[in-house]
Amino acid sequence: MTDAAFRVVVLVSGSGSNLQALLDDQTGYEVVAVVADRSKAAGIERGLRANVATVCLPLRHPKDSEARHAWEEVVARVIAAFAPDLVVMAGWMRVMSSRFVAQFADRMINQHPALLPSDGAATMPLSDGQVIPVIRGAHAVRDALMLGLPVTGCTIHRVTEEVDVGPILAQVRVPILPDDTEASLHERIKQVERPLIVQIVRELAQGSPAP
Ligand code: GAR
Repeated sequence: MTDAAFRVVVLVSGSGSNLQALLDDQTGYEVVAVVADRSKAAGIERGLRANVATVCLPLRHPKDSEARHAWEEVVARVIAAFAPDLVVMAGWMRVMSSRFVAQFADRMINQHPALLPSDGAATMPLSDGQVIPVIRGAHAVRDALMLGLPVTGCTIHRVTEEVDVGPILAQVRVPILPDDTEASLHERIKQVERPLIVQIVRELAQGSPAP
């Protein structure tokens, strides 16, 4: 990688397998920093093993709005210090304020383990005529199973002030099998998500579509 590389900061809360896919690739882009909000996030170890600047900023008092605001400011300052061309929420499980989003909105993308429309609609028509409820939030895989949906998937979208709403960059359907558990379904979704996030970051690094 050269100094002119397209600079990517990855935000993680959990295992970081999508982060790992990005670290393993780095074609046309460089992961310059990993930011985690949980000390137990396995993504921290992945960042360190890859010799990438890795910062853990735990949110200690999530229900205290002043503390949360101060924490967000620190997270924003740390991200900005790495001068990213792109910020990737790869399993980042915190809802960020509109003030935070506004700072990076033109260059921040999110992964979501379900099919999303780009607007705030509550249902979504599929190409075969089926209409399924839109599943937003932190338990999208569990909720898809509980609702008995025949299909779910994954979406990569630009981040806007509304949670899990924003222009879609990529989306793939994943069928739900009769014997699926939350773990088995999530793993099959992640198998699709990992190459997809790499493909989208490569494309954004090449300027198409512009970040
Ligand atoms: C991914 O499935 C991603 O879509 C999801 O967390 C997982 C992270 O996996 N993100 C969300 O649910 C955000 N609401 P990983 O830690 O193994 O990369």
